[in-house]
Amino acid sequence: MDILFVGDVVGSPGREMIKEYLPKLKKKYRPQLAIVNGENAAGGRGITESIYKQFLEAGANAVTLGNHAWDNKGIFEFIDQAKYLARPANFPEDVPGRGLIFVKINQIEVAIINLQGRTFMSPLDCPFKKVDELIVEAKKRTNIIFIDFHAEATSEMQAMGWYVDGRATAVIGTHTHVPTADNRVLPQGTAYMTDVGMTGPYDAILGMEKEAVLHKFLTALPTRFEVDKNGRKQLCACLITVDEKTGIAKSIKTILINDDQPFFIE
Ligand SMILES: [Fe+2]
Repeated sequence: MDILFVGDVVGSPGREMIKEYLPKLKKKYRPQLAIVNGENAAGGRGITESIYKQFLEAGANAVTLGNHAWDNKGIFEFIDQAKYLARPANFPEDVPGRGLIFVKINQIEVAIINLQGRTFMSPLDCPFKKVDELIVEAKKRTNIIFIDFHAEATSEMQAMGWYVDGRATAVIGTHTHVPTADNRVLPQGTAYMTDVGMTGPYDAILGMEKEAVLHKFLTALPTRFEVDKNGRKQLCACLITVDEKTGIAKSIKTILINDDQPFFIE
């Protein structure tokens, strides 16, 4: 089984990239499962029900979130009904939504877990203790367990990779919006990448207009950031090949689409 995972979709430029390239990527790589992180999809902050549905229509089988999950108040209206939407699992017990979801592809179930880091982020429940619990839960139904670890610190992301090596199929980082070059299969068979990168503006700073971000760095004044809608666009993703029976990853490769690395059909 091949799993395609597309990193943080930022605003309308990111959504346009999904609409244009997700079908093309599915045609080219034929993944059985496509997952998209959509936590920045609505104007850079959060997701709406219609965007969630657009992603499914474009070919995503599941959508993951992160620290911006709650930024659009409408989320509370639909998250409990959204079967294929995962929010960070390590929020307190009675928070709406689910952090572990299951997707069935050709009679094979895949567990998808979303977790949020705590280093330089809001103090949530321990993602390491939570992942232990969720892996036990997921293993009752499947050996294929995909984890989107939405975290800021590279150390925390690497720690999670090593912590679940051999127990999960993949631990892929999101949130920093910068793709790392450390995609590998760890010794016990977990595919790992510190951050898959983002999908959206290419000539911006983490997806935001660079002038505003520069203003903040140069003046230290509070500055409002907006998604850069005028520049070029990019898509960042990875493709994981999995042994369906054991849930062990065989390989992980990165996919970058931008003007410097254009998309082509082989
Ligand atoms: Fe984030």
